[in-house]
Amino acid sequence: MVDCIIHNEGLQGYDGIRQSYPICRKKTNRIRYLLFLLKGFVLYYLSCLIIRLVLWRRFVVKHKKKSKMPEKRVVVLTGAGVSAESGIKTFRDSGGLWEDYDIMDVATPEAWERNQELVLDFYNQRRKQLYEVEPNDAHYALVDLEKDFDVQIITQNVDDLHERAGSSNVMHLHGELKKVRSSVDERLVYDLDGWELKPGDRCEKGAQLRPHIVWFGEPVDMIPAAAELSNSADIYVIIGTSLNVYPAAGLVSYVRPGTPIYLIDPGELSVGHIPGLTFIREKAGTGTKKLVSELKKDHT
Ligand code: OAD
Repeated sequence: MVDCIIHNEGLQGYDGIRQSYPICRKKTNRIRYLLFLLKGFVLYYLSCLIIRLVLWRRFVVKHKKKSKMPEKRVVVLTGAGVSAESGIKTFRDSGGLWEDYDIMDVATPEAWERNQELVLDFYNQRRKQLYEVEPNDAHYALVDLEKDFDVQIITQNVDDLHERAGSSNVMHLHGELKKVRSSVDERLVYDLDGWELKPGDRCEKGAQLRPHIVWFGEPVDMIPAAAELSNSADIYVIIGTSLNVYPAAGLVSYVRPGTPIYLIDPGELSVGHIPGLTFIREKAGTGTKKLVSELKKDHT
């Protein structure tokens, strides 16, 4: 503005200044207007940049979390203890099932040959109870673990409480109570309607249906797949099993050296021979919840 006044004074004198002053003001206003526009543009550009940065950061964090999931695989081997707090008896604890029944009378192919009614009744009672119980905190904690890890469950249990809690990957080593199969062709497996399997219930080949249970003395067909899964674990968790029954108890030997192994069980188990094992001597409900929150803290 000063430049403009001097210039005009030199040429036109005081009157010229007075006449040219509005022109100068017009120019100044235009510059101000341009500056105003520029400022607006810069502000707009900066806010766009900030929004983009925030969205990008969110995307990267979310994507990182997602892509982390399959990186860590937790393989969980469960036994009767994981269902104890749901009200299902274990086998070898005091008051356990094998105190009331002789294994040889109800859980072997010879027992089936000898007394089908007794065997059917034993599994009918187990199945009937299954309709009266619910999953417990341990089952639900394992479902929660799936939010951050690839969780693969290998269970020795014949109940369906892992599935009912919502676990996605459950392998049954010893069969399933709610299924039955042909006694002459093991490939013929059926879902049983209700809890009772009766003498005279037959498969499509006309043979008596039997419980879909792996009895003592029968091969455990799922063992090779379970061994492979155990070998693929980044973290191995064992819950509520006395580790008395083979080949299931031997699965831990397939875990790769250096893999952290956790055992949750309130009992006195001799597990000194398992390297890298952390023994959490607690019931399944509290122990599993604690371990799950530790794993989430440490590994995500
Ligand atoms: P067991 O009865 O042998 O062992 C149960 C384990 O659960 C013990 O180590 C207990 O200390 C533990 N336990 C008890 N209460 C618990 C709780 N609230 N929380 C956590 N743990 C608890 O049962 P399994 O080891 O599962 O096979 O038995 C393996 C197989 O033997 C079964 O699958 C079954 C059985 O005979 C067949 O029927 C083919």
